[in-house]
Amino acid sequence: MTDFAHDPGIVIVTHPLAQHKLTLMRDVRTSTGEFRTLARELSVLLGYEAMRDLPLEDVEIETPLERMQAPRLAGKKLCLVSILRAGNGILDGMLDLVPSARIGHIGLFRDPDTLEPVEYYLKLPDDIGRRVCIVVDPMLATGHSAAAAIARLKQAGADTIVFVCLLAAPQGIACLRAAHPDVRIVTCAIDRELDDHGYIRPGLGDAGDRLFGTK
Ligand code: URA
Repeated sequence: MTDFAHDPGIVIVTHPLAQHKLTLMRDVRTSTGEFRTLARELSVLLGYEAMRDLPLEDVEIETPLERMQAPRLAGKKLCLVSILRAGNGILDGMLDLVPSARIGHIGLFRDPDTLEPVEYYLKLPDDIGRRVCIVVDPMLATGHSAAAAIARLKQAGADTIVFVCLLAAPQGIACLRAAHPDVRIVTCAIDRELDDHGYIRPGLGDAGDRLFGTK
């Protein structure tokens, strides 16, 4: 398997808080409510990392004591794009960081015959080409949905894209890096493997079901 450790396009968030929260999410005894809270908290930490390269510009402001040049965000605004439905579980934490970000949604299902992702829902801001896009989906498993979603965003004009997930399988990382080498991936961990049912192992189970309490 490829050694992802030296790929500058892959960021693994090793902060102890992130790793601790991920472990709690993996634990089968964690309740739906706790899982949801942890997903939100962890997405703040992932978002912090995903937004690390946002450019700054100096502006003049006045503190209560004197005038100064101080940095503020410059350039492109943000668009968060959730891959339905589990992506919604890691959207709110990121929105806490950037409340004015626009939000897009994309829904894909897997065609049972071709096994290819088919789009069933798409709603994006008109000016997506002028925004940094952060695409969110908790689990990067095969990578097919993520790659298809990102291809669709590029078709709509997006050209600066970061992909954020809680957990990835080596296959998913390889698929996404091959399809979109320009897209940085931010994750908390790359697990051992994808099993025959498409689950990441050891993983955390079905993220959508655990977030929404469905089975
Ligand atoms: N999607 C999930 O929710 N979990 C996995 O393990 C793989 C894909």
